[in-house]
Amino acid sequence: MCGIFGYAGRDNAAERIINGLKRLEYRGYDSWGVAIADLDSEQINLVKHTGKIGEVSSEKLFDTTSTIGIGHTRWATHGGVTDTNAHPHYSTDKSFVLAQNGIVENYQELKSELISKGYEFISQTDTEVIVRLVEEELKTAQDLHEAVRQAFLKLTGRNTIIVLEKKNSHIIAVRNGSPLVIGIGNEEIIIASDTLSFADRTNKVILVENYQMVEYKNGETKLFDVKENAELKTEIIELDQADTKVEKEGFDHFMIKEIVEQRYTINEAVQYTLDELNPLLGRIKEKSSKGGQGKVYTVGAGTAGFAAMQIAFFLRKHANVNATELKAYEMESYKNLFTPEDTLIAVSQSGETADTIEAIEFAKEKGTKIASIVNMLGSTITRISDYKYFSRSGAEICVASTKAFTAQTAWGLLLALSLIGKYEEAKKVVKDLSQNLESFFEGNDFSNIKNLAKKLKDQEHFFVLGKGQNFVASLEGALKIKEITYKHFEGFAAGELKHGVIALIDQGTPVFGIISNDENKADMLSALAEVKARGGFTIGVAKENNELFDFFIETIEGHEADSIANIIPFQLISYFMALQLGNSPDKPRNLAKSVTVK
Ligand code: F6R
Repeated sequence: MCGIFGYAGRDNAAERIINGLKRLEYRGYDSWGVAIADLDSEQINLVKHTGKIGEVSSEKLFDTTSTIGIGHTRWATHGGVTDTNAHPHYSTDKSFVLAQNGIVENYQELKSELISKGYEFISQTDTEVIVRLVEEELKTAQDLHEAVRQAFLKLTGRNTIIVLEKKNSHIIAVRNGSPLVIGIGNEEIIIASDTLSFADRTNKVILVENYQMVEYKNGETKLFDVKENAELKTEIIELDQADTKVEKEGFDHFMIKEIVEQRYTINEAVQYTLDELNPLLGRIKEKSSKGGQGKVYTVGAGTAGFAAMQIAFFLRKHANVNATELKAYEMESYKNLFTPEDTLIAVSQSGETADTIEAIEFAKEKGTKIASIVNMLGSTITRISDYKYFSRSGAEICVASTKAFTAQTAWGLLLALSLIGKYEEAKKVVKDLSQNLESFFEGNDFSNIKNLAKKLKDQEHFFVLGKGQNFVASLEGALKIKEITYKHFEGFAAGELKHGVIALIDQGTPVFGIISNDENKADMLSALAEVKARGGFTIGVAKENNELFDFFIETIEGHEADSIANIIPFQLISYFMALQLGNSPDKPRNLAKSVTVK
């Protein structure tokens, strides 16, 4: 989703900003812009385009080597994907430019007021409303700092803005909701949406909280509380650099690299000592096991929402904990149910998903304690959690989440089994799976999956059935393929088939069945028999072949972690089918990696 990157230092700002925007590309965007302040001529040069940044070079864009500027990648919300709607936006007198990450929820009323005062609008964006509002505030405010502050306080919604002034070597950025971090480099400062964007420059970071303003002016960086207008102390933290590589490392796409990386990322996610897990284990045991009244909720959105479901499943199934999965964007009916006895486990790759943050805020208001399993260091969800855990998968660049899901669920299995004293067993299960994956990927040319992808690529409707431990895999497996192939894939509980879904089965309709050698195997086989009897094309994703399968995909042995292992064939089908269809696996249409707006 939208990305912000501001630079001030010794280097060519345009070059640094373009590099930073490329490192933000993974978040998803449809247009981009770079604004450079030429301090000698006191002018801001602005370039904005739809599409990808690609191989754009700074020299081709600007004939200045200014060392201060801002850039933005836009994922359209208000107004179509056009050069004009791309950010940053000039003020009327071109004395400053502004870019936003988020949504101004009250933009319509603000816009009407500003129009009635004579302001004209060039774009259809909600962001231009902020620009005009700052101009209006400048009529009475003593300086740009105060005008931005006053304007910001009039906005509703989650929005983070960055402003570049044409003189004074001056950048202002204010955060509310959408992420903002400051990178402190060698005689340079970067103000950006995430730490990954400047990980090639520095690991020294200042985390900006909501309603805080960063002001860089003439070489000095200050942090303010926007509501109080008071200067704040800054704290520089050092992040682990190893977590921030963003190279394809010889793979054709980030997606396949990240799928293959699961052979070790799954195991990384469970590298917690009992001492580190104990605070959360103790809380769940005290409040939610053995007669405790507290509930455990798990929450997330999209793939992370499915990981949350799987974690709740593990907690119920293995540890007898009364755990309920919630969808971050469907919390309304739960708002009044949270109590201080409850624990909410938030699951997120980015740690910045607006829906999930809002769900956490609801729960926090009621005194519920928050635990989280997040992949991005320094992210918002981590900062607002009482019990913080990292999935340690390294940067996940492909928009479709793969290694984050398996890491989060592996951590969930560790949590569930540790609650019943099976910490060592849990670690062994995950380690064994990791080793099985190592052998699975070793020299594998994926010919079986490629053949299936080729065979099915022209079909439009597909179904995936799962039961028990594999129910979530059916949902996540289907989501993965939808995202990258743009085909209609639907995951179902196998039990749902007879209650309606079977009406959709026609001659040749492809239906996947995910089958472990567990108590649900017989039901799963019956479901596939019913599909086959109606002419459906059955694909068994299982340990061994069966006469009921028209096509067989052998799964990786996972034992208690079977449900985690079983997602991997779907990730691979999704990747190879996308290639067959000529789609971009890393950047599927319409999707954004970090969904920072509601
Ligand atoms: C799908 C996908 C999304 C995210 C969802 C939540 O492949 O990546 O569904 O899982 O937008 O994002 P995070 O995990 O960053 O909270």
